[in-house]
Amino acid sequence: MKKIAVLTSGGDAPGMNAAVRAVVRKAIYEGLEVDGVYNGYQGLIEGKIEPMELGSVGDIIQRGGTVLRSARCPEFREAEGREKAVKQLKAHGIEGLVVIGGDGSFRGAHELTLLGVPCVCVPATIDNDIKGTEFTIGFDTALNTVIEAIDKIRDTATSHERSFIIEVMGRDAGDLALWAGLAGGAETILIPEEAFEVTDIIERLESGTGRGKKHSVIVVAEGVMSGHELAEILQEQGNIKTRVSVLGHIQRGGSPSARDRVIASQFGARAVEVLIGNRGGVAIGMQNHKVVEYSLEQVFKGTATKDSNMYKLSKELSI
Ligand code: ADP
Ligand code: F6P
Repeated sequence: MKKIAVLTSGGDAPGMNAAVRAVVRKAIYEGLEVDGVYNGYQGLIEGKIEPMELGSVGDIIQRGGTVLRSARCPEFREAEGREKAVKQLKAHGIEGLVVIGGDGSFRGAHELTLLGVPCVCVPATIDNDIKGTEFTIGFDTALNTVIEAIDKIRDTATSHERSFIIEVMGRDAGDLALWAGLAGGAETILIPEEAFEVTDIIERLESGTGRGKKHSVIVVAEGVMSGHELAEILQEQGNIKTRVSVLGHIQRGGSPSARDRVIASQFGARAVEVLIGNRGGVAIGMQNHKVVEYSLEQVFKGTATKDSNMYKLSKELSI
């Protein structure tokens, strides 16, 4: 393998830049040429491809977002779109591709590998929802952003003796809500993976009030319902007044945490090593504190295993 390329795709995540830097620097260190593809698969189809040098990735390890930009690309879901991408890769002499992104981006990379272009995937999404890795790049930073917000909201909730609903990201995955809720001492956490009863939430709030509790924080993952919908339900069914805070895309930005920078550097470098071995269809991840490789096919097989222990703990600690 003489020349590889790197792209970022799907929802951006803090630490993507650190991963791009690692791919570029490791590739050059190993004597490879490396190109950067701008705007994810869309840019691949359109040939937005530029050579990357050591200096191209200077001063980005601490920056949020992605200097390569990101995109959602419906055209790449079609065989015709992917054929165009393969043509561009061939025209640029690119023999292998590192894809930094989430589950959808991994599926695209799998399809590309089947077309004969070895792809290696680096998990980066604030949702932490990729099977095979315990942590994705961006999750730790987003988690700290949410906790900072919860702490601030708790201050005003205490002053005014109010209940707050905080809506966090996570369309299909509850990790961000669950970890942030546990670390932020939320009274109630609602995530897509766990069923709940409105009556239970109301009882918990009422029993807290009965014990003299003057404020409370409910964290809801957007995949369950919106914060405003939940507020209406609590008002209608329990006559409970709440204030709602929707954290939104603030969770996707910001300087990556030290942990995200470290795992991004480790994952990016390992991805290059896999490509040098001429292997594709591989994902990089973290298991038991070790950087591991596993096949993309494994990522898509079955459903992610559900660990209910943390949810149970959050309930036990917020009685
Ligand atoms: P994420 O990677 O963060 O999960 P998306 O699900 O939006 O984000 O996926 C990013 C891009 O990956 C999509 O816009 C599309 O171009 C590509 N993609 C997603 N699913 C597939 C698929 N099944 N086949 C081919 N490409 C896909
Ligand atoms: O990156 C994943 C995610 O943050 C989800 O939690 C969220 O629903 C989605 O992206 C929103 O992304 P966008 O606004 O870019 O469509």
